[in-house]
Amino acid sequence: MELPFAESWKIKMVEPIKKSTREEREKWLKAANNNVFQLDAEQVYIDLLTDSGTGAMSDRQWGAMMVGDESYAGATSFKLMRATIEKITGFRYVVPTHQGRAAENVLFSVLVKAGDYVPGNSHFDTTKGHIESRKAFAVDCTVDDAKDTQKEVPFKGNVDIQKLDKFLAQKADNVPFIIVTITNNTAGGQPVSMQNLREVREIANKYGKKVVFDSARFAENAYFIKMREKGFENKTIKEICLEMFSYADCMTMSAKKDAIVNMGGFIATNVEDLYDKAKVLGIIYEGYITYGGMNGRDMNAVAVGLDENTEFDNLETRIKQVEYLAQKLDEYGIPYQRPAGGHAIFIDAPKVLTKVPKEEFPAQTLTCELYLEAGIRSCEIGYLLADRDPITRENRFGGLDFVRLAIPRRVYTNNHIDVVAAALKNVFDRREQITHGVKIVWEAELMRHFTVKLERI
Ligand code: F0G
Repeated sequence: MELPFAESWKIKMVEPIKKSTREEREKWLKAANNNVFQLDAEQVYIDLLTDSGTGAMSDRQWGAMMVGDESYAGATSFKLMRATIEKITGFRYVVPTHQGRAAENVLFSVLVKAGDYVPGNSHFDTTKGHIESRKAFAVDCTVDDAKDTQKEVPFKGNVDIQKLDKFLAQKADNVPFIIVTITNNTAGGQPVSMQNLREVREIANKYGKKVVFDSARFAENAYFIKMREKGFENKTIKEICLEMFSYADCMTMSAKKDAIVNMGGFIATNVEDLYDKAKVLGIIYEGYITYGGMNGRDMNAVAVGLDENTEFDNLETRIKQVEYLAQKLDEYGIPYQRPAGGHAIFIDAPKVLTKVPKEEFPAQTLTCELYLEAGIRSCEIGYLLADRDPITRENRFGGLDFVRLAIPRRVYTNNHIDVVAAALKNVFDRREQITHGVKIVWEAELMRHFTVKLERI
């Protein structure tokens, strides 16, 4: 008999979680203004709000934490982290920051000015925020395939090379760099192929532009390249990573994802002039150049985490768990962004709650229903998150309306995933009875989804 697949780790430490009753959840969700960000963590049974900073560190990472060097300058922990980053990415200059958006803040303070355009593939919200707050524009050049959730293509996160070329032909003078997000979170944790990264590099060279990778989930991207792209089947994840980064000038990193730590980030590059400028701003915003927002122990944990999570077995365990959830949803006929992403499943909410009009936010409604059903916290990546058009102040209903089920790394077992799938099936089975959604009673001007207050209609 063929042996079944199982995790490449075993569990040494556990954290209790608590179930609740539907009655309790009704009360809690109401008090949280129908916004799951406002729930207390202990009111949640299975937390799929994000895979960011929520992973379980390994015994080797915890061990490394104990021998962190907390020296203000020149700490061995920084040198270890820098050496590991160089081994994996090929970049020798490293500016540490406290998380990914801090890396964006430092780097974009150097590179972006008012009136600039930054083309890329579905910029993450904070990336877009750091561009727009500088009165510059994020230009989305993602492939059109990403908009069709039912279309199964291997690299749905790709940059549309023609769109990019066309845009640069018009606006190159005002483009400081091209940004490629690997994997493409907003499009559903979808990977970018090596071929596409190579083509982006060629276009960048044609116009004399820099390429920056937003690398939060670069290791998951490398896994997909190994599994799906011809010519990479026999390469190691670390070999693939080195080639990927050879097409970039610089990277920003949220270590909270693929370095499997709870807090941390960095910028890395081989462009000395860029490093010289970034390190000065790093000092102002983050801290001295050898710790910038991180403790010595945290940098040790990043070093070990990066090394572990660029090994095939660890990535295979993780991505197979996301695929496991996808298989269950296939069984039940629940529509999601296909194929399954690296870090999450993105449910296509308007295809589930067909009776809830877009003005009543189907994905947010489904997020509430899933919480009420089983205490599972997911996250709306849809019409609420899209905010209003800055000029017309109209809601932006043009994009997709997803419920994201982000799977923390090494945290839940497939039994938990079975609960998630069953809860979704129960909601799906009564979808015809869900005819009303939510309405906004208070909202912030920007990034409203975090603090919005909603009422059930
Ligand atoms: N880039 C990408 C692609 C991200 O997904 C995130 C964070 C960031 C940058 C910012 O990093 O949180 O360390 O400041 N994404 C989280 C999420 C919050 O839930 O997807 P950060």
